[in-house]
Amino acid sequence: NKDNLRVLITDPMDKVMLQMLQEKGIKVDYQPEIERNTLVNTIDKYDVIVVRSRTKVDKEIIERGKNLKIIARAGIGLDNIDVDEAEKRNIKIVYAPGASTDSAVELTIGLMILGARPIYQGINMVRSGSFKKLPGIELAGKTIGIVGLGRIGTKVARVCQALDMKVVAYDVVDIRERSEKMGVTPVKTIDELVKQSDVISFHVTVGKDAKPIVTEEQFKSMKEGTILVNTSRAVAIDGKALLKYIDEKKLTLATDVFWHEPPKEDWEVKLAKHERVLITPHIGAQTKEAQYRVAVTTTKNLIEAIKELGVQL
Ligand code: MLT
Repeated sequence: NKDNLRVLITDPMDKVMLQMLQEKGIKVDYQPEIERNTLVNTIDKYDVIVVRSRTKVDKEIIERGKNLKIIARAGIGLDNIDVDEAEKRNIKIVYAPGASTDSAVELTIGLMILGARPIYQGINMVRSGSFKKLPGIELAGKTIGIVGLGRIGTKVARVCQALDMKVVAYDVVDIRERSEKMGVTPVKTIDELVKQSDVISFHVTVGKDAKPIVTEEQFKSMKEGTILVNTSRAVAIDGKALLKYIDEKKLTLATDVFWHEPPKEDWEVKLAKHERVLITPHIGAQTKEAQYRVAVTTTKNLIEAIKELGVQL
């Protein structure tokens, strides 16, 4: 029954989530900054864990969570959750795909423009007392290659078309029909996409052990000055290889995601501080509106999952 149900929230959530759960009489432990060690040692007390991308619900947490029945992911990416292990133990996963699409699209466009025009460098320059003209490039007439034509990729494509960019797209699923309707050119391989693109934007969902889609081979065939934009997951790109090519090919990386967040390995720190790299701290879904929707959708799905356990609410 619901008095015995123990729910742990381990990342910051919009307060509407707590309100909705309280209205149902569900008691919640809200510990948005819980440390890994504490989590490892206390997870066995809980039936439900609610996370965003900070908390890693890996094999160890799932094994130690002897009473875990539901994992709720307030967001879209499931790469911080060991989905196989959860399935093996019959733990249900709920999440909120779609709730943060618009925010992710808007950040993508922002990063793309930051990559094309020295807005960031210009602001810094004026702040430090200088006032010179800094050159950039125009996006109209350029080609953007969208890797992953799902919800976010599709809307990014539409905005880019409004900017008079040509859009090509690559996906692992068949996107021919969708592309045709939108006036987007589908390509069969990632190689074709990188060769044609002036901007490449990543909108992929990946598993926790995913292999990079863009590696040394693709960096070699990119146009000089290509802008790489990533608001999905860093593992889509081979970062170590990118570091080698970034100066040689004059590539720009404008990214909201990193291989470790925050950057950890030496090559990551180097890349993050590189003058051709613009990095934001995983804020794609971090708007008031998206976080409200993510919290509402996740909580609704969580309440349904709790009912399916046979708990009366
Ligand atoms: C997501 O997968 O929903 C995003 O990466 C956003 C987040 O978790 O904050």
